[in-house]
Amino acid sequence: MSLKDQINTSQLPKHIAIIMDGNGRWAKQHGQHRVFGHRNGVTAVRESAEAAAELGIDYLTLYAFSTENWNRPRMEVNALMQLLLQTINNEITTLNKNNIRLNAIGDLDSLPAVNRKHLLKAIDATRNNTRMTLTLALSYSSRWEIVQAAKKLADKIIRGECTPEMVDQQCIEGLLTTDGMPDPELLIRTSGEFRISNFMLWQIAYAELYFTQTLWPDFRKEDLYAAIVDFQHRERRFGKTSEQITKVNDQQ
Ligand code: FPP
Repeated sequence: MSLKDQINTSQLPKHIAIIMDGNGRWAKQHGQHRVFGHRNGVTAVRESAEAAAELGIDYLTLYAFSTENWNRPRMEVNALMQLLLQTINNEITTLNKNNIRLNAIGDLDSLPAVNRKHLLKAIDATRNNTRMTLTLALSYSSRWEIVQAAKKLADKIIRGECTPEMVDQQCIEGLLTTDGMPDPELLIRTSGEFRISNFMLWQIAYAELYFTQTLWPDFRKEDLYAAIVDFQHRERRFGKTSEQITKVNDQQ
């Protein structure tokens, strides 16, 4: 049976998040500059978005550029921004054709003005699409997000819209950039690194983690299927015992 056929489509994760890693190493393996790896990473972005939409995944979130990535050599940062701009502009038609909504999380104000403008235009052009939400995490880091949320919360309390007693998990969730999105149930990281790298720390509290040796530019639909098949073999207990989970499943 093919990997795709092994997927139980009635038990798909609603939200998959991916830490795309290994572009630089892939380029090195091909005797090329790191930017060559990023360019080839776009094919993997397209493949994973297409595969996720075809399967019926509601949310796909890609860690495209972290707050810390600004510290890379200026030439690489510029090339990444240019690639991002190009890709967004090239893909609007395909996103609309496939009924995919584009979304972005992160410190978008820190992006070059031209990137921000075209990104917001693409988000607006796809806002009515309903099949899947493709979120790009750009100039994003979880600690940045948590600081923003803390500032917003302090502001609400000062304005008298909220009291410390009213603060609960739902309230915090509403202040994060992912407000309104379900938490990722599956987090994939490519390139054999076993790290979270400041990505969605609050949101992945109960996510299943999947690490693959595949370098991002080599990531294809089959790799996404393999991650989902693996996810579907996990027992998700959410702090309960295995027996409790089995009993609930038996009653269904
Ligand atoms: C990590 O590999 C990858 C990035 C920092 C950038 C991801 C960008 C793309 C895939 C291209 C464009 C994306 C979109 C959404 C249009 P790395 O450079 O850290 O690789 P290394 O660990 O091997 O050095």
